Amino acid sequence: MMTPPTSPLRVGVIASGGGTNLQAILDRISAGDLDAEVVIVISNNRNAGALKRAREAHVEAVHCSETSSGSSERFVRELIGHLQHARVELVVLAGYMKLVPEDVVNEFADRMINIHPALLPKFGGKGYYGMRVHEAVIDAQESESGATVHFVDNRYDHGPILLQRKVPVFPDDTPEGLRGRVLEAEHQLLPDAIARFAHSYRRRMDTG
Ligand code: GRF
Repeated sequence: MMTPPTSPLRVGVIASGGGTNLQAILDRISAGDLDAEVVIVISNNRNAGALKRAREAHVEAVHCSETSSGSSERFVRELIGHLQHARVELVVLAGYMKLVPEDVVNEFADRMINIHPALLPKFGGKGYYGMRVHEAVIDAQESESGATVHFVDNRYDHGPILLQRKVPVFPDDTPEGLRGRVLEAEHQLLPDAIARFAHSYRRRMDTG
């Protein structure tokens, strides 16, 4: 059951790592450039920098994982419960290193997005994460790379693309150098993608 559109868009972020993409969203919101509110941050890693950043921004920060829940069924119930209790309208995977359980994807069909550090559909899918992505781009002698925000389905990095942002790849690039350039693009792209979603989501809900 979708809650009627509220302004600002209620965003739930799920992350496993340092949370620089989460921070980019928080910064764009506090600059008054994104009509959204991060209402909850959930991580499978109790020590994730993303949870620290959430606490510093006075956003609900929750550790929730299959391990901590004790079973996959209970994990699914708890994860959906956290998101529904926070009345999340858009779920954003910002460096979530696991496959989202199918029941969770289905509960938030067309309202869950993921950011990937490459120009999908190339260099995506199982095994393409972190530095492996940038190493593969350089090994393939690509002239450009970038970041992709896409809707989440039940396969890694596979759903419909919402927005992409390109960056050049230089002949002497190292994977670390390329990673830094792509991450900068991600920090622009993700808030832009949320704004685009919010616009179409409101229009969709207004027209019923
Ligand atoms: C980003 O590169 C994102 O594309 C990938 O995981 C990384 C998360 O980085 N899915 P951070 O935790 O947001 O800094």
